[in-house]
Amino acid sequence: MSSVNGKAIQRATPKVTQAFDPSQVRDDFPILKQVVNGKPLVYLDNAATSQKPQAVLDTLLRYYTTENANIHRGVHTLSALATEDYEGARAKVRRFLNAKEDREIVFVRGTTEGINLVASSYGRRFIGPGDEVIITAMEHHSNIVPWQMLCEEKGATLRVIPMNDDGELLMDEYDKLLSKRTKLVSVVYVSNSLGTINPVREIITKAHSVGAPVLLDGAQSTPHMAVDVQALDCDFYAFSGHKLYGPTGVGVLYGKAALLDAMPPYQGGGDMIKSVTFAKTIYNDLPYKFEAGTPNIAGGIGLGTAVDYVTGIGLERIAAHEDELLVYGTKRLAEIEGLRLIGTAKHKTGILSFTLKDIHPHDIGTVLDQEGIAIRTGHHCTQPVMERFGIPATARASLGMYNTKAEIDALVLGLDKALEVFS
Ligand code: ALA
Repeated sequence: MSSVNGKAIQRATPKVTQAFDPSQVRDDFPILKQVVNGKPLVYLDNAATSQKPQAVLDTLLRYYTTENANIHRGVHTLSALATEDYEGARAKVRRFLNAKEDREIVFVRGTTEGINLVASSYGRRFIGPGDEVIITAMEHHSNIVPWQMLCEEKGATLRVIPMNDDGELLMDEYDKLLSKRTKLVSVVYVSNSLGTINPVREIITKAHSVGAPVLLDGAQSTPHMAVDVQALDCDFYAFSGHKLYGPTGVGVLYGKAALLDAMPPYQGGGDMIKSVTFAKTIYNDLPYKFEAGTPNIAGGIGLGTAVDYVTGIGLERIAAHEDELLVYGTKRLAEIEGLRLIGTAKHKTGILSFTLKDIHPHDIGTVLDQEGIAIRTGHHCTQPVMERFGIPATARASLGMYNTKAEIDALVLGLDKALEVFS
């Protein structure tokens, strides 16, 4: 243990060992003990952000109380400790994603910044007039707008893979869109508003057959399923820490080293350089070339703890638990007259998006809030998805590892109340 602080206490591992027991996991999340509007909190907004286990909270407190310092810069002890922990977190993320090298892991603010980095850097260098970028009809705005901006600037064209009424991609249409003009394919792995798990392995193989790299938006997949970037053979993969039970303001862009190496820096500033003169600047090596300025040090270290936490439980077990809840939730919601589930793909994660008669989703959300139940309502930053289904908004319950069948039952009772109030 360090002589400067009590670091050893922070390496808490989850209490779960064999069978998955949500009630045991729940003990690790202090916020879940809260009462909201006089009712026990039922947190079903995990796709927006998930709650943080005590181990992550402890890490943040420890960092700020015992080793707060800037990284990669100081010779003093605190700076060395902070640097060691921050780079240690990078190595944890590398193992978590099964990337080949630590330098393929770039810390960013979140998925949105990861995608913007690729659009700005890779896009500006390698995409030109007449080229095409392919996305899907179920993208989050953060995987639409950066490509629109790039295409507008470069005279390139954005192509969109359509989907069916269940929210599944029409892969035949994808085949038709692919051509020598395709310069990049950027696809959401799991839809935040529909829950669809897209066939990304097939998408990647096909894109590679025309020489196009693939970026996966992993914001919703990372907390719910094991991801192996080498097995997927994706070229870029972006995810956010705060949806993986980690802190806000930190995320990761994975990129194959050869691609990242060939790309120009995204932002200029400290830490991304080897030397600066007024005549010429020599850029730093990977990943620092893409990490200008002081990063979210506490967030990065906290993300490392979150990775330890979910790895300690096992993403396979988390996925199995959430799948069981999804099946149960789908069945219970189907019993409610007038409820329309939006997103009924065969391969789904724990997203239950729905409309209920003609009650506005915001009203549903407000009634549920009075019952202590947190869901998200609105277009979920996927307006084209809403348009595709001919609706302005949905109510969305999204599941996390700590949710239980009893909470699904509470949701159903809350929806009965909404029907009573608005009928
Ligand atoms: N993209 C996040 C969500 O789906 C914020 O709620």
